[in-house]
Amino acid sequence: MKSPALLVLALLSATVAFAGPPPPKQEGIEGKNYKWNAQEGEKIEALHKKGDVKAGKEAYEVCGACHLPSGAGRPDGTFPQLAGQHSTVLIKQMADIRAGLRDNPTMYPFAMTLTDPQELADASAYIQSLCIPANHGMYEGKDAALQVAKGKDLYEKQCKECHGANGEGNKEKFYPVIAGQHYKYLLRQMSEIREGKRRNANPDMVKVIKPYTDDQLVAISAYQSSLAMPGAMCKGGAKKK
Ligand code: HEC
Ligand code: HEC
Repeated sequence: MKSPALLVLALLSATVAFAGPPPPKQEGIEGKNYKWNAQEGEKIEALHKKGDVKAGKEAYEVCGACHLPSGAGRPDGTFPQLAGQHSTVLIKQMADIRAGLRDNPTMYPFAMTLTDPQELADASAYIQSLCIPANHGMYEGKDAALQVAKGKDLYEKQCKECHGANGEGNKEKFYPVIAGQHYKYLLRQMSEIREGKRRNANPDMVKVIKPYTDDQLVAISAYQSSLAMPGAMCKGGAKKK
């Protein structure tokens, strides 16, 4: 790829003109025959392929414009941290975005630059090779200690069984790592899952999160972002990368 910056510009203007994402699919969270993780399609093909880190680095160039070259994403909650996420989760989310099962009009044209299941596997292998950035967005209120304690309480009752005792997720089951993700991204995702706007969510999680109040979501996001992501930390801090 010659110039990722130019490609980004071209694709961003293309979205406005015509290359919009497909219309929301019936199979989303409210569809009758909804399966949150059907074992089919390019997702399964990609999962069975061995990713090539070098090819993935090239495929990832365009992604770095939003997720940053380090994979750190942004503390303001717009772009998630990808470094440290399970390969299965990365592939499922990319395939869902490409298939119109997770609405992401901003990223859609870029997700479509990946041509086939092999490229999904490559991009995921490259992201997996990145170290965990030393800094990420956390809850910054004065009552942080209180919020984290409240959030821990809720998390241990209802989330631990899927996302793990330390927020490490579960690679085999496609449960994301939520430890060390940006606070604002976590809060936004949980609100969207609660409200049925993130249509590729696990229905059992939707049930659990439905009764949560906004205040409880704040506390539980504060707690998750206070946990350390498992995996190899970058040396010397991520901010300079
Ligand atoms: C124009 C900005 C943009 C570009 C370029 C972009 N993304 Fe994204 N990506 C996003 C946004 C925004 C989200 C979060 C969507 C949401 O809020 O639900 C996201 C989410 C994701 C997720 C899901 C993460 C999670 O924790 O659920 C993955 C995986 C991902 N992107 C991979 C990629 C890859 C690989 C590329 C390059 C092919 C890429 N992205 C390019 C904006 C972008
Ligand atoms: C039954 C298992 C299950 C339970 C219980 C559950 N989750 Fe989830 N969670 C998932 C799965 C699976 C996903 C990814 C769904 C998808 O594929 O889009 C997810 C996604 C998320 C995300 C978005 C992560 C990202 O990177 O985009 C957050 C945040 C989250 N869960 C937090 C929680 C919290 C907090 C609780 C407790 C209140 C909880 N979950 C309970 C299975 C579960």
